[in-house]
Amino acid sequence: MEDAITKKRMLSGIKPSGDLTLGSYLGAIRNWAQRAEEYDCFYFMADLHAITVRQNPADLRRRTLEQLAQYIACGLDPQKNTLFIQSHVHQHAELGWVLECYSMFGELSRMTQFKDKSAKNAENINGGLFTYPSLMAADILLYQPDLVPVGEDQKQHVELCHTIARRFNGVYGDVFKIPEPFVSKVGARIMSLTNPTAKMSKSENEDTGRVLLMDAPETIMRQFKRAVTDSETSVRFDKENKPGVSNLMTIYAACTGKTYQQIEEEFSGKGYGEFKPAVGEAVVETLRPIREEAARLMKDKAYLESVYRDGAQKAAYVAEKTLRKVYKKVGFVAK
Ligand code: TYM
Repeated sequence: MEDAITKKRMLSGIKPSGDLTLGSYLGAIRNWAQRAEEYDCFYFMADLHAITVRQNPADLRRRTLEQLAQYIACGLDPQKNTLFIQSHVHQHAELGWVLECYSMFGELSRMTQFKDKSAKNAENINGGLFTYPSLMAADILLYQPDLVPVGEDQKQHVELCHTIARRFNGVYGDVFKIPEPFVSKVGARIMSLTNPTAKMSKSENEDTGRVLLMDAPETIMRQFKRAVTDSETSVRFDKENKPGVSNLMTIYAACTGKTYQQIEEEFSGKGYGEFKPAVGEAVVETLRPIREEAARLMKDKAYLESVYRDGAQKAAYVAEKTLRKVYKKVGFVAK
């Protein structure tokens, strides 16, 4: 408790809308785990967000638990981090509604993710998909965090959260702390291996361009061997003209800690035939302990249950304080 008072706070979440990928790990979870000592951390499985796209209920349930096991396996110690399932903390949906009333139609219409997802799900452009960023703002503002670590694709949503928070504070005084998005320098945008101009996404059906945290080493090696590169032979970082090779370099840098210059030197005079399997091997070694530990944890349902129950209780305690304040400010009668 003493720690919670003196430490700064950090919060983030991932939708269990697909199995976690190397992109989710390098762009998000890895950065979270590195900061557990410094910050009081809240991380959740964003199941409320997942249903903006139609989900198979059994898969959603499995993935939510698997995601928790993977968070822990990636180094998020439940003793040091508050890990919880979003739908277990009802304050998210409640503040989400209030903030919808402070989010403008024009702002929500301009969100890139809304435009992309509407194009991909033309038969299901539902209200939740549209107001998603208001719920995400609620996820953040309930906990008054200092920092929100996300990959590049979520930055726009965190910026809209600022706008909503400022608008609310402008009317009611300093209710919300304005958080900072934190986008790490390496790994903020891992691209598909087969289509390196598109993000590696967990919700895509095609299984060729992505690497899953739980993939077997042989699968990972196969994926990297058939990664798209270009007609040159040199390993050189040039995002615009060599998106495939640059993406592989980003992955290799993130897994080994090497700089782009060191990587260029390491593979100078060597072709992609050597480079691609080397990246694959670095990924296999990075993911191996995570996969093994997550598989072990998935067999211990009682432990996972104790973690998410405990997490929800701690999260609700913090969230409720903010929600009470908001309800009072907007003029709701106290219970
Ligand atoms: P989601 O589930 O799409 O992605 C979770 C996190 O992983 C990052 N990420 C990537 N980073 C690098 N390369 C990639 N290929 C890649 N794919 C995903 C994302 O940027 C994100 O940080 N709306 C959020 C979940 C959310 C949330 C929140 C996040 C709900 N409420 C509150 C922060 C705070 C989402 O859909 O992320």
